[in-house]
Amino acid sequence: MSPPIEFRLRRRVFLTGTAVAAVSTGLRAGAGAAQSATPAMPGADTSTVTLMVNGEAREITVDNRTTLLDALRETLQLTGTKKGCDHGQCGACTCTVNGTRVNSCLSLAVMHDGDEVETIEGIGTPDRMDPMQAAFVEHDGFQCGYCTPGQIQSGRAVIDEIRAGIPSHVTGDLTAEIAITDAEIRERMSGNICRCGAYANILAAITQVAEDQA
Ligand code: FES
Ligand code: FES
Repeated sequence: MSPPIEFRLRRRVFLTGTAVAAVSTGLRAGAGAAQSATPAMPGADTSTVTLMVNGEAREITVDNRTTLLDALRETLQLTGTKKGCDHGQCGACTCTVNGTRVNSCLSLAVMHDGDEVETIEGIGTPDRMDPMQAAFVEHDGFQCGYCTPGQIQSGRAVIDEIRAGIPSHVTGDLTAEIAITDAEIRERMSGNICRCGAYANILAAITQVAEDQA
């Protein structure tokens, strides 16, 4: 049975309104994207900071609300670091600051004046890969590759953290040297999500690097 005429009219009005809202939202989103891609001018809402990125001093002027991730990707055009969730939940944006891994989407660029930032671009090149990059290739540690830069950054950090004696949730004996076990690696990599499910191969890659360095 057809819906009453009044219902059809109301539905059409609703759909028209929805379309207008979608287009205007798209326009606003587009305007926002254009703003973030344009270097900010100095002013009350902006700051000039110098980041040591991959060993090179980079002075940038950014809106004070700019995340480190957006500063890297939009201002410095270092797009190797990926934006997955933008909410600290996927780990795709992982890079290191002063040797410690961070979710760059949760950190403001203005907090890092003078800090050493390392992105995937600074780790290795196709001709001279870092051991972790080579292990990911050897073990098929990626499928779409979107999470891979963050996984590689975290994988390297995980080995360093275990060797530094930093315990995790699954560390049993806090007084003994921490062994690099599957459980330790899995726990410490749990903040890096791979929607392709390459976890087994990522674990194999990290384990191999840890063993090679032992
Ligand atoms: S983009 Fe930063 S954690 Fe997902
Ligand atoms: S390889 Fe695709 S999300 Fe990890």
